[in-house]
Amino acid sequence: MTKKKRKKPAKRNTATRKSAPKDGSARSERVRLFHETPFGKIYHGDSLRLLNQEMKPESADLLVMSPPFGLVRKKAYGNVDADQYLQWFRPFGEAFRRVLKPRGSLVIDIGGAWIPGQPTRSLYHFELLLMLCRELGFHLAQEFFWWNPSKIPSPAEWVTVRRIRVKDAVNCIWWLSPSPWPKSSNRRVAVPYSDSMKHLLKKGHQANGVRPSGHDISEKFSRDHGSAIPPNLIAVPNTESNSYYLRYCRAMGLSPHPARFPSAIPEYFIRMLTDIGDTVVDPFAGSCVTGEVAERLKRNWTCCDLVEEYLHGALARFDKPDSGAPVQRTVSPMGFSGSGKSFYRVHHPGSLWEVNTSDFLQEDGGQTRPQSVGKNHAELDPTKE
Ligand SMILES: C[S@@+](CC[C@H](N)C(=O)[O-])C[C@H]1O[C@@H](n2cnc3c(N)ncnc32)[C@H](O)[C@@H]1O
Repeated sequence: MTKKKRKKPAKRNTATRKSAPKDGSARSERVRLFHETPFGKIYHGDSLRLLNQEMKPESADLLVMSPPFGLVRKKAYGNVDADQYLQWFRPFGEAFRRVLKPRGSLVIDIGGAWIPGQPTRSLYHFELLLMLCRELGFHLAQEFFWWNPSKIPSPAEWVTVRRIRVKDAVNCIWWLSPSPWPKSSNRRVAVPYSDSMKHLLKKGHQANGVRPSGHDISEKFSRDHGSAIPPNLIAVPNTESNSYYLRYCRAMGLSPHPARFPSAIPEYFIRMLTDIGDTVVDPFAGSCVTGEVAERLKRNWTCCDLVEEYLHGALARFDKPDSGAPVQRTVSPMGFSGSGKSFYRVHHPGSLWEVNTSDFLQEDGGQTRPQSVGKNHAELDPTKE
């Protein structure tokens, strides 16, 4: 497939650029194909229209997104108020159900919000989760927490002026599916063993491995599987400051997208929940980080955004001079320099991504137990009464 020919856009006046309307409407306009790559397509327009009118039912393996949050302080692309959020999101939720394969996954990165004028939090993202599960029949496969250690303290009034709240540095990521058994493998996102685990593996079986909880960890956990199962805490800073994307936007006179997620967020879920050749969709694509990752991982993908300027910037991701080169990652564990025992080290989720690539996902989402289950685990099958 050949790339669409593209002209350098004229320097833009951001005051007159088309931005998303507050209520996410603009639903009368058609979506149009904006750009194509060997694996993906970028559409400009309302993704609700794309999902309902252009996409076939049960055609997507993974919908991964960072929708506009119900933030109190409005962002340039027009967030809806927290209390209107559910109403705005419901038709998207219905459309997601329609286009997802039965064992596909819906992954939503969603930040929290403060209630205006008082130091308390909105419940809108929890209400969203309840709506998706209770009204639209999604199952919560697991909740994740994305810790961004580089988040600045806000709102200043509560955090830095009155010092009565702490920095809000964690986004919720809801992983949902139409099935209780979405296809997935935690092997794809395994991380290196911690130093204490390496020590345990070296020392081998301990006579008394009983935890305060009563769990006997002596034998089961002293087997070396080559890597550790990660927790549902993803530690990635959001500190991009001199990327090709940003330099390209500067050179073209485009405003960079103000709320990009780091590529490790979609990459984590694309790796864990899809195989090569599967279909990934980001309906709130912004600068098309999801498309860039999916292209590199050879997944078919579709991205869509309402704001054309963001898509012009996104083109940087698909004609980089270094396209195809391995991604350089900082993979050192996050944040802690202390050597005392009270510190925990959180691995960058990508520490082993280049090695955890081989196995295929179980089509039945793990409903069939592996043959090789050990004696200790065999008695513990939670699906048997
Ligand atoms: C939080 S941003 C996503 C940023 C993106 N993850 C990235 O890393 O660049 C949300 C995006 O949703 C877009 N959006 C809002 N309503 C939309 C709709 N109905 N259809 C398509 N895009 C929409 C906004 O224009 C905005 O770019």
